Amino acid sequence: MSKIAVIGTGYVGLTTAVGLASLKHEVTGFDVDPIKIQHLKEDKLPIYEPGLREKMVEAKVGGNLQFSSDLETTVSDADFIFTCVPTPQDEDGSADLSYVVAATQSMKNHLPSGAIVVTKSTVPVGSAQRIELTLDREDIHVVSNPEFLREGSAVSDFHNPDRIVVGAKSMEIGQRVMDLYQKINCPKIITSQASAELIKYASNSFLAIKLSFVNDIAALCELAGADAMQVMEGIGLDSRIGNKFLNPGPGWGGSCFPKDTRALASIANDFGIQMPLIEAALESNEKAHKRVADRVMNAVGGSLVGTTIGVLGITFKAETDDTRESPAIAVIERLIGRGAKVKAFDPLVKSYPLVGLDVVDSALEAATNADALLILTEWNEFQNLSPKDLLPVMRKKFVVDTRNVLDKDLWITSGAIFPSLKD
Ligand code: NAD
Ligand code: UGA
Repeated sequence: MSKIAVIGTGYVGLTTAVGLASLKHEVTGFDVDPIKIQHLKEDKLPIYEPGLREKMVEAKVGGNLQFSSDLETTVSDADFIFTCVPTPQDEDGSADLSYVVAATQSMKNHLPSGAIVVTKSTVPVGSAQRIELTLDREDIHVVSNPEFLREGSAVSDFHNPDRIVVGAKSMEIGQRVMDLYQKINCPKIITSQASAELIKYASNSFLAIKLSFVNDIAALCELAGADAMQVMEGIGLDSRIGNKFLNPGPGWGGSCFPKDTRALASIANDFGIQMPLIEAALESNEKAHKRVADRVMNAVGGSLVGTTIGVLGITFKAETDDTRESPAIAVIERLIGRGAKVKAFDPLVKSYPLVGLDVVDSALEAATNADALLILTEWNEFQNLSPKDLLPVMRKKFVVDTRNVLDKDLWITSGAIFPSLKD
């Protein structure tokens, strides 16, 4: 059992703190936001993540997890300090390291000799050296341990990861961090710090490129009279391609793919290398958003001015409350920009600051008087919506299901019109 401090209690930090505590380490979570810490002390979660609250309460009751607003006491007797602070996109597309640097500076004089600072935040290659320079302490080790969890399944991803990557200067220090995950059964690799940092960006960028390709192929399928889902099944059976991450959608988004792809392009640029595939994936993603808006606009007669569009789903994917860089918002902005009024329902989002967007309380309300109903997030509950309830209240019966959640045949039988890209 090791003493661990987790700095930053957002999606990654809180999941990491709870996960490490459930592996029976002694964990303290710290955040600069005292309200967040107060809420966590009261068992209130600042985020929605399935199963996380239950695991957190269990770990607290078991004595393995606590939260603190006092940085000095949190880190002063910790063997490991996990940094889980944001690395948002800077104006030029690169990763903004200021939160990591600030967190490092604020802890550097309180760390016990021999402590290991573990970077979970997604950071550009070379960041470990920058952290070492900021710490300016030869008695502290810096290790990169990139996080691969997905929002919406973070708890399960923590306990059943595809792999754990630890990047360290020496095998001995890397192994000490890897030993924290002894109870987790998965492939584990110890690499250099630079390799670990790049594995994270390369993974996210590869997945984003894959999704852009999927969305482009899905559009082609529709125009060519093929069934995109059959095509995805067919290519996914090739084990070199794999059958995961092949669901077409309105474009990919979230707090990481957009910023991490741009950051990788920026890193490559710093090293004098172009990454045309990343640029193409980003461009393809914009086109995916535009295709959805075009489809809706063409369905309702070629102009969105004066129309009302009902939208189901605001978050960037199902099972999360996160709207950061949501493709749903990107599409809604386009609809509003072209003159539509949008009424949107999401199971977890109850307000969103966007002029022209009215967040409503039910799918029925979103559909009422709508010229088209547009599904942008794949919430399970949307599968069970009844066309008999929603179609009669709509002004026109156009339905655009970008996530393939509806039983299309049932909806068509009930009178829905699914406009095609050809229209
Ligand atoms: P988040 O915004 O949800 O949480 C970050 C937390 O850090 C916030 O609670 C904030 O108050 C706190 N914080 C900021 N500065 C601090 C400081 N100096 N000291 C202590 N706390 C501080 O962010 P997140 O989504 O958890 O992402 C964190 C990092 O993990 C990013 O680098 C991100 O790219 C990476 N990542 C995120 C995910 C994900 O699914 N969200 C997955 C893998 C990796
Ligand atoms: C992604 C990665 O999957 C994680 O491994 C990584 O740790 C994380 O980014 C990160 O670095 O933050 P996440 O953004 O939570 O996780 O969600 P994903 O499930 O990857 O979805 C990203 C976007 O792609 C969403 O908009 C989702 O709807 C879309 N998507 C995903 C599809 O359109 N089709 C798919 O088949 C899968």
